[in-house]
Amino acid sequence: MRQTERLAADAAGLARAADILRRGGLVAFPTETVYGLGADATDAEAVAGIYAAKERPSFNPLISHLGSFESAKSQGIFDETATRLAEAFWPGPLTLVVPVAPTCTISDLARAGLDSVGLRVPAHPLAHALLERTGRPVAAPSANRSGRVSPTDADHVLGDLDGRIDAVLDGGAAQVGVESTIVSCLGGTPRLLRPGGVPREAIEALIGRKLETAGEVGSGPLAPGMLASHYAPRAQVRLNATSIRPGEAALLFGPEVPQGAEAAQAALNLSKNGDPVEAAAHLFSYLRQLDASSAATIAVSPIPETGLGEAINDRLRRAAAER
Ligand code: TXA
Ligand code: MG
Repeated sequence: MRQTERLAADAAGLARAADILRRGGLVAFPTETVYGLGADATDAEAVAGIYAAKERPSFNPLISHLGSFESAKSQGIFDETATRLAEAFWPGPLTLVVPVAPTCTISDLARAGLDSVGLRVPAHPLAHALLERTGRPVAAPSANRSGRVSPTDADHVLGDLDGRIDAVLDGGAAQVGVESTIVSCLGGTPRLLRPGGVPREAIEALIGRKLETAGEVGSGPLAPGMLASHYAPRAQVRLNATSIRPGEAALLFGPEVPQGAEAAQAALNLSKNGDPVEAAAHLFSYLRQLDASSAATIAVSPIPETGLGEAINDRLRRAAAER
């Protein structure tokens, strides 16, 4: 259990909240839509902490929050449509999914391994002040435990997460109460991924065309290449491997070195001491590195289904099935 601080909406509270975020902690903060559970998006272990606190059984890409369009431009690539949307609706309840910029510092885990990134500049003055002081992108899903409703005030947040996060910045009630509208601007076709605070009609009026609709991540068929909903390795994935076969790459977990590991094409250990939070932080970048080794198969050590192990195994099972 952690001691969760309730921070006042003043200069001291903001300074403390920014300090906690910069040191890798978890801070819930108000936005105009709902309260978000924030962590430094560039710090994969901090981001893993979000999943642990929420007890979320699966990883999906998170929205990274920024203080300005200027700072968002160093994280993502904005085409003409994305630029028009950002200029019209930011700061505000709109999230744009855009390709990652070469200068992107947002961790693989916050992006769930994708080459795209979800970015939003919130309008709430406290959120804005916090982001400016933190000076880094802040990943923040809604500040509730998995399966519960999104919180719109600090008491809701504490009801779900007291003792599981470092602090909540108390800014009173959120105004909108529903999450941000998510529009993907990939491959030249803007798509509505999630309806939310900015009405579809307002977006369509601005860009002068209808928005295609795509289900939220994981919920429907998508044209290949238009919107990859999940990072899928090129290699085959073999789960619960207790020994490594010649030519395989090895994704290990825990202190034990499986038989054959010394002859693996490449081997990386998600967490030598078997810590699921550390393992989650490494998951996507290690999968990518092993995939780049050009081995035909990535053999994965058994990972217990405890804590974040459930989300890690969920992701690995999908990677194993996706072909
Ligand atoms: O109002 C909101 O948007 C709240 C407040 C706290 O800002 N935040 C929120 O964040 O709802 P989050 O992280 O729960 O939103 C995650 C959703 C994913 O389920 C997915 O639909 C979309 O954002 N998303 C983020 N990055 C994406 C990407 N690269 N590709 C596709 N979808 C993405
Ligand atoms: Mg939510």
